[in-house]
Amino acid sequence: MTAETRPRYAHLTGWGRYAPAGVLTNADLERMVDTSDEWIVSRTGIRERRVAAAHETTASMAAVAALRAIAVAGIKPEDVDLILLATLTPDYWMPATAALVKEAIGNTKATAMDLAAACSGFVYGYATAQAYITSGMAKHVVVIGAELLTRFLDYTDRNTCILFGDGAGAVVLSASDEPGGGLGIELTTEPQGAYMIWLPSGGSKSPPSAATIARGEHFIRMEGRETYRFATRTLATTALAAIEHAGLQPDDISLIIPHQANVRIIEAVAKGLDLSMDRMFVNVDRYGNTSAASIPIALAEAANSGRIKVGDRIVIVAFGAGFTSGAVAIQWTADPVRGALGDAVSPDSVHVRPPVDWDSVDPIPDALAEILARPGRVPLDLSNVVPGEPEPAAHPALR
Ligand code: UT7
Repeated sequence: MTAETRPRYAHLTGWGRYAPAGVLTNADLERMVDTSDEWIVSRTGIRERRVAAAHETTASMAAVAALRAIAVAGIKPEDVDLILLATLTPDYWMPATAALVKEAIGNTKATAMDLAAACSGFVYGYATAQAYITSGMAKHVVVIGAELLTRFLDYTDRNTCILFGDGAGAVVLSASDEPGGGLGIELTTEPQGAYMIWLPSGGSKSPPSAATIARGEHFIRMEGRETYRFATRTLATTALAAIEHAGLQPDDISLIIPHQANVRIIEAVAKGLDLSMDRMFVNVDRYGNTSAASIPIALAEAANSGRIKVGDRIVIVAFGAGFTSGAVAIQWTADPVRGALGDAVSPDSVHVRPPVDWDSVDPIPDALAEILARPGRVPLDLSNVVPGEPEPAAHPALR
């Protein structure tokens, strides 16, 4: 492929999301750690988060979101030639979770790989997909953010366990010669913050052992204040750089889709860009922080709820462990009505092939299993929850 025949644009043509059915409310957390609904809502904006059932994995959630995005894009799974899966909670250390997703969605030809940039992972993946497409190396790329964080949380640590939840979102980027898609990209990495959010054991520096588990080193650790400072210092400047790379001004942007970590951080982004909160998409109240999954889940919800129109310029912007940050200014070209096509994909029809002669121990943390099984709640049989996407209000039985 010569420079003349390379596609010049990568349009966002498909989007989809998957949220597990289990709901963990602030009231549930009040029974687990010394916290309150009032504290959590006033400091973070979070009211509830989703919890994957025992049979669900990062790969299974990712595959559903990917198939929904593929249906919206109007292509076949086999048309995809690159699968990028951003996650900090892969099913296994190896193989890459993206390989399991490739098989689960019924694709035989794609290159499939995982991408590790924590909560900025989806934005890093988006930028990578755009580079593959505009260099002529791929025509249709699926970028997924999927996380199963509730299995890596210490449910005695109120600083972290209230924040995170599970879920997956995906987009399809497709080559085009028509203007549109990603117009400006900014990515940053600041390793001074490397140990501000981290998971100490499990890697080669400290392989998992009875001793590392006894020390609780298999759980996420976080310096909340420092992370908050980094986020409020960086998000608006990263978004602004992407907007400027696109040759635009903040006022040209109709919707900002920020990483959903904390509504106070989102308010700081709005202030930094001198935009009102009605230009910021917020769903952190219903999902908590789903790390790499948060932006593609929010993007799919924004498109499906009429917040995005053809021709709109939007910005996705994230920050996360590393410290990393990233933003992409995007010109939207797909008909948002197509979002409904994703509903045709039922989670029940998606299967990730398990290993032969091996099964995991029960993956649900004891504290979580105990609270979700309490009388007074609807008993959630975590070994056999049929995945779905109930809206909390429409499904009071789950509250
Ligand atoms: O994707 C990136 C992931 N990480 C983040 O986005 C985290 C960014 N940071 C934050 O969002 C905020 O720093 C937090 C929500 C984590 C904490 O809010 P804060 O306003 O920075 O609170 P703080 O850490 O300064 O703690 C204030 C007080 C402390 O008590 P004392 O020392 O003042 O007595 C904490 O021990 O609040 C206490 N505290 C809690 N109280 C009730 C901390 N966690 C809780 C809790 N419930 N869950």
